[in-house]
Amino acid sequence: MLSQQELKQQAADAALQYIIPMLTPDAVIGVGTGSTADLFIDGLAKLKGRFRAAVASSERSAKRLTDAGIVVLDLNQVQSMPVYVDGADEINAGLHMVKGGGGALTREKIVASVAKVFVCIADESKLVDTLGKFPLPIEVLPIAREAVSRIASSLGGQPLVRAGFVTDNGNQIIDVSGLRITDAVALEQTLNNVPGVVTNGLFAMRGADVALLATQNGIRRL
Ligand code: A5P
Repeated sequence: MLSQQELKQQAADAALQYIIPMLTPDAVIGVGTGSTADLFIDGLAKLKGRFRAAVASSERSAKRLTDAGIVVLDLNQVQSMPVYVDGADEINAGLHMVKGGGGALTREKIVASVAKVFVCIADESKLVDTLGKFPLPIEVLPIAREAVSRIASSLGGQPLVRAGFVTDNGNQIIDVSGLRITDAVALEQTLNNVPGVVTNGLFAMRGADVALLATQNGIRRL
């Protein structure tokens, strides 16, 4: 029986194999945030020299990349990116995801939006029938915290401000539990339209293009 850590390692290794054909001397790789993405970064270090640089979706990942000897570029310096690799807190069969458990959702969504291919890596526990069991993170400007929380309640959720947490962008996170998300695209759009919301953790309008899910029986590709 493989541990969750071993499964995450398998998913990270599968992503490294997946991106090898995309590596060129000019390629800039988009890199996500989280414990699975950390393992991907560690493996990417062994491929340095085969691509130009990386763009990180958080200060945490930028530091890990830099420590591994990988050049980190600001997204504004990059015009295109063949691939973005990141974990997820939940993913469904339609490749819609809930992300942001690590609080990096805004930069994740921005960097992913530039990439041609979004590769989601996760252990199989992240695959769900219906999104919403994992509390949906919403990054808000601090002034909008209570107003957005009331709207989250009106949508049927239970909002909880993430105590003592400030995002890389200087904002706050509201984690909304109790949502049963049957139309992820619609909810993502609805939340995007609330004043003061910077980003919500639904990645549905632009979901993953491929998911590499590690199971006890090997990698399951969706
Ligand atoms: C970070 O903000 C998140 O979106 C992560 O990608 C997500 O939480 C997955 O993290 P793990 O790989 O640690 O489960």
